[in-house]
Amino acid sequence: METRANFGKIGVILATAGSAVGLGNIWRFPFMAGQNGGAAFIAVYIVCVLLLGIPGMIAEFIVGRHGASNAARAYKSFHKGRAWGAVGVLGVITSTIILGFYAVVAGWCLQYFFASLFGMVGGDANSVKDYFVRFTSNPIKPALWALAFVVMTHFVITQGVRQGIEKVSNILMPTLFVLLIVIVIASCSLPGASKGIEFLFHPDFSKLTHDVFLDALGQAFFSLSLGTACLCTYASYFSRRTNLSVSACQIALLDTGIAILAGLMIFPAAFSVGVNPDSGPSLIFITLPTVFDKAFAFLPFLGHVVAVLFYALLVLAALTSTISMHEIGTAFFREELHTSRRGAACIVTVTACIIAIVCSLSCGAVNGLTLMGKSIMDFCDFFTAQILLPLGSLLTCFFVGWVVPQTIVHREFTNWDTVSGRFYGIWLFFVRFVCPVCIVMIFLHQFGVV
Ligand code: PHE
Repeated sequence: METRANFGKIGVILATAGSAVGLGNIWRFPFMAGQNGGAAFIAVYIVCVLLLGIPGMIAEFIVGRHGASNAARAYKSFHKGRAWGAVGVLGVITSTIILGFYAVVAGWCLQYFFASLFGMVGGDANSVKDYFVRFTSNPIKPALWALAFVVMTHFVITQGVRQGIEKVSNILMPTLFVLLIVIVIASCSLPGASKGIEFLFHPDFSKLTHDVFLDALGQAFFSLSLGTACLCTYASYFSRRTNLSVSACQIALLDTGIAILAGLMIFPAAFSVGVNPDSGPSLIFITLPTVFDKAFAFLPFLGHVVAVLFYALLVLAALTSTISMHEIGTAFFREELHTSRRGAACIVTVTACIIAIVCSLSCGAVNGLTLMGKSIMDFCDFFTAQILLPLGSLLTCFFVGWVVPQTIVHREFTNWDTVSGRFYGIWLFFVRFVCPVCIVMIFLHQFGVV
């Protein structure tokens, strides 16, 4: 069996941030914010990240670094008995479902990369929208792109932790950040952009419904890769010197910053060209091509280059996230079935491909593919973000707060560092009481109990 690799110092932050930053920030966050009234949603989202996200991330990191193995084994490493290992298995299931539907959207990005390279998408808002609808309702093309994406992920995963995951993340993250800033400037300089900025930053709290809380909670967990055992699996590659609480705060800050930048990229442009902010999952695909056309009308070639670069980076940001989802299952099957890394990766790849095909077809090509009144794609998104992720995180918080011996938790949290030690009590209070109570309340409301 291979020995376990460790991420390097920068690699810890960049690879984990690479998992966190992805389509969740650039595709899902804007459309969720758009559907939930903009600024008020963002305010609740930030509260969820601070109160539930960061404490939950630290809890998952603790399990992962202490366990130094796949997610299921990491949970079992503290406590005899199989029961808690189930939380890790739940993470493997959740992340594989997410990998399936996420690959579909990542595949759309691949299509848009080629379409912008060959100048096939653009023009007024209506023709851009038509292009999206025609493409997603094609039975073959989007499914093929989704499969291509899963196979790309498979390829990186089989290269191993340091060679594959860390190298890709170290280059991509900074480049993505710079390009986002360029597009934000372009979008905010369009005529009428100020309405979009207002939509993002002027909260109208009368729009706060219970659904907004549920959506914001799901979005925060999805975006931080929380509740899937992903952070637990990555933390198993952290070195003993990594300060878990500082790393969690840095990653959450970066992740939220990028989501807000994505909002600043989309909404000013959407208001400027008259695209509805609540257009749903198609939002970035029907807004951005127009930004590239209009904001760079003075130098169309530049608009073209920015568009191509943007979609390339979006694909790569999605890739660093799909790698992390894939790694959860791969590490699990490799260690549990005592098989090679390649064999374990194949199990995850094949399962994700099947889910991806069904999700892709349900987006328009085959109308009857629905579950509980939603397309299979929307159902997978809803079921993972709104149910499985909060459930995974709830169980982890309970486990770390109440089940794991406190000496271990304290040692992992503080790393013998007195500054972090001062926050231990507050964090433990959150993990023991605040996180479980808030998540349970939100759940109860969803099931109509309160
Ligand atoms: N956090 C990733 C994103 O924002 C998605 C993700 C979810 C990754 C769960 C891993 C596990 O795109």
